[in-house]
Amino acid sequence: MAEQNTHLGDSKAIVTNQPGIHEKLAEIVHKHLSHPSKKPFQKHTLDAFELAHQKVLAHDGDIILDSCCGVGQSTRLLAKDNPHALVIGVDKSAHRIQRNDDELKESTDTQHVDNYLLIRADLNDFYRLVKKASWRVSKHYILYPNPWPKAKHLQRRWHGSAVFPEIISIGKEIILRSNWRLYLEEFLFSAEIVKKTGLISLVNDEKPLTPFEAKYKASGQDCWQLIIGDIN
Ligand SMILES: C[S@@+](CC[C@H](N)C(=O)[O-])C[C@H]1O[C@@H](n2cnc3c(N)ncnc32)[C@H](O)[C@@H]1O
Repeated sequence: MAEQNTHLGDSKAIVTNQPGIHEKLAEIVHKHLSHPSKKPFQKHTLDAFELAHQKVLAHDGDIILDSCCGVGQSTRLLAKDNPHALVIGVDKSAHRIQRNDDELKESTDTQHVDNYLLIRADLNDFYRLVKKASWRVSKHYILYPNPWPKAKHLQRRWHGSAVFPEIISIGKEIILRSNWRLYLEEFLFSAEIVKKTGLISLVNDEKPLTPFEAKYKASGQDCWQLIIGDIN
């Protein structure tokens, strides 16, 4: 995995041995489209999904999914900006999910925001459960996923993973951010295979949406955003 520093301003730029879109990407995406993942579900993710599912059933407004939410800063900010939505942040790291940082809430002015859930779950399972349950997700955020920049790790990137067919079908809109533009180019390339389209642009937000975004910006790196929607 690419090393991620925890201090603001000293994040190293991505180093990759890939000159462009991975030559095997189309083949891998087609393989996953024709052979859905049959991996058994882990119990902790099944339980976490069930909890979220009950909240989703009881909720009358939009559902926003914040995948790989880390400590949940973006989940809280999205909840604050979308008061009628239920925002569900998912991360596999119990340590990050459970941090429930008062300082973080204060710095983002989200102390009184409560229309969100933070769930510890593995998205390789969670995405398949969301798809099976036909959640109507309006926006699906994937902010700064681990880049896995070595060519041999293509299948660890979300677009190279066995759950890409589910990922790409969740959300009317997918918003993906990375400090590695090629990650977004590859995701868009994969999305186009299933007749979706999208646009890549620089992130120009005044305030960072996530701690990783803050770190990359403080290190002078560009942050990129891809928005995927349906063609027409
Ligand atoms: C680089 S961090 C970004 C965190 C946050 N979005 C941010 O920008 O500050 C990537 C996050 O993805 C999570 N992650 C990686 N693989 C995952 C998986 N299979 N299921 C759920 N979370 C995962 C990690 O635990 C980590 O918190």
